[in-house]
Amino acid sequence: MGFFQLWLISLVTIPFLCSLESVNGIGANWGTQSSHPLPPETVVKMLTDNGIQKVKLFDADYGALKALGKSGIEVMVGIPNDMLATMASSMKAAEKWVSKNVSDHINNNVNIRYVAVGNEPFLSTYNGTFLKTTLPALQNIQAALIKAGLGPKVKVTVPQNADVYESSTGVPSSGDFRTDIHDFMIQLTKFLNENGSPFTVNIYPFISLYIDSNFPVEYAFFDGNAAPVNDGGTTYTNMFDANYDTLVWALQKNGFTNMGIIVGEIGWPSDGDRNANNQLAQRFMQGFMSHIAGNKGTPLRTGPIDAYLFSLIDEDEKSIQPGNFERHWGVFSYDGQPKYALNLGMNNAGALIPANGVKYLQKKWCVMKDSARLDDPSIAQSVSYACALGDCTSLGYGTSCGDLDARGNVSYAFNSYYQKNDQADEACKFPNVSTITKEDPSKGTCQFNIMIEPYYGGANRSFQSIWSFLLGLVMFLLL
Ligand SMILES: *[C@@H]1O[C@H](CO)[C@@H](O)[C@H](O)[C@H]1NC(C)=O
Ligand SMILES: *[C@@H]1O[C@H](CO)[C@@H](O)[C@H](O)[C@H]1NC(C)=O
Ligand SMILES: *[C@@H]1O[C@H](CO)[C@@H](O)[C@H](O)[C@H]1NC(C)=O
Ligand SMILES: *[C@@H]1O[C@H](CO)[C@@H](O)[C@H](O)[C@H]1NC(C)=O
Ligand SMILES: *[C@@H]1O[C@H](CO)[C@@H](O)[C@H](O)[C@H]1NC(C)=O
Repeated sequence: MGFFQLWLISLVTIPFLCSLESVNGIGANWGTQSSHPLPPETVVKMLTDNGIQKVKLFDADYGALKALGKSGIEVMVGIPNDMLATMASSMKAAEKWVSKNVSDHINNNVNIRYVAVGNEPFLSTYNGTFLKTTLPALQNIQAALIKAGLGPKVKVTVPQNADVYESSTGVPSSGDFRTDIHDFMIQLTKFLNENGSPFTVNIYPFISLYIDSNFPVEYAFFDGNAAPVNDGGTTYTNMFDANYDTLVWALQKNGFTNMGIIVGEIGWPSDGDRNANNQLAQRFMQGFMSHIAGNKGTPLRTGPIDAYLFSLIDEDEKSIQPGNFERHWGVFSYDGQPKYALNLGMNNAGALIPANGVKYLQKKWCVMKDSARLDDPSIAQSVSYACALGDCTSLGYGTSCGDLDARGNVSYAFNSYYQKNDQADEACKFPNVSTITKEDPSKGTCQFNIMIEPYYGGANRSFQSIWSFLLGLVMFLLL
């Protein structure tokens, strides 16, 4: 792929020009793939404190939706890709889904405005797995919404990765839907358009930089320092605008002239890669916020951009198959603390407000014993076990803990596993090589975290002792 093509195409984003009486301001994605999610009430308070008026969920998590009741926050609920086949083949299933996951919550004052049917279902790496089920699922959900009397209030959409469109020459005006899915895109977009629904796209300059070391770094940001790209007299100095306008062109070219666009995800990770750190994340996020302030839009589309930041909070159980950065997209870390200064322009503080009343476990850590030797044969096995079940994505070149020595690495892995298992004694019994300490091993940018108290929702704690017992058994058998 040519250089220009790559930096346009690999960016995925969607802004949204809303013709409905939609709330202005920034939204956020609230994902829940965490070993220790914050209580949903805490998260809703964070959203409110920070003036975030729109939230996007990846499923219809009952606890999250319950907590959102009466908050007034506009909600996009999601149907995961693995439910698309069921929704496509059964009208009854679609009706049940709408009844349980939309109507019931609206009756409880949750301000649900969108249903996201699938998540990036046409991503090229899915090899067409969801191509045939997405539109029928969308149609059934739309019909179910109308049947439930929610047609005018709740709109359907399909968040797409920006890889569903491309530009043969690299400039936005050559934008069109990807050749191999062109017909599917036309049918899907036509249905959305006929139902007054927006086109949702996720745009990621970070990924462009991650996959292509020749990507011009400045073009990912909003400071206007990149060499301008000239598209028939219109100039672009950042990938977001160019990518967004490539979509606008693709839509126009296929007859969808005034369709609303939502940017379903936009963000920058803070760890797990040499280009992922707090400084660059801050620069991107603040740059984006300033860029969309004043509603000047993109060169092709002036007006407000409807966007959801990716993401609100780090999620330590996300798959790292796309890269170690996957667990570090949050503007807030796992415990609801802001990672860097960011003015969303939505509250009087002009800064992010941390989660309130977070409860941490004790100030203790699991580390490598002083007396243990690096060449102890049990070390390698213990580390790989700890990293597989804990989280070692902050280790490695250019990451926050990239400067640790070999012993530091081992300690980091042990501690991660120990904290993730709620500091259970059994989780720091790597044979002869680990010990518990009360001295914080954190160094420089490298944080040895203390986990937060687990949240059981409605359940109670008798369940925890069983968990500790099983954990002890597993450690005993494995090591
Ligand atoms: C409602 O959504 C949840 C979470 O995505 C899902 O597990 C459940 O099956 C859905 N309910 C129905 C009736 O489809
Ligand atoms: C897609 O196809 C490629 C090549 O055939 C294969 O390696 C990959 O595992 C497939 N991915 C999925 C999600 O099916
Ligand atoms: C620490 O671990 C990381 C990730 O596994 C590795 O890349 C690095 O080389 C290790 N450093 C030392 C000094 O062993
Ligand atoms: C632990 O250390 C003791 C004493 O040094 C030794 O006898 C034992 O074999 C070690 N256990 C393991 C699993 O390495
Ligand atoms: C906790 O679980 C036990 C056993 O399932 C149950 O009897 C008890 O009522 C529960 N307590 C609370 C507060 O939910």
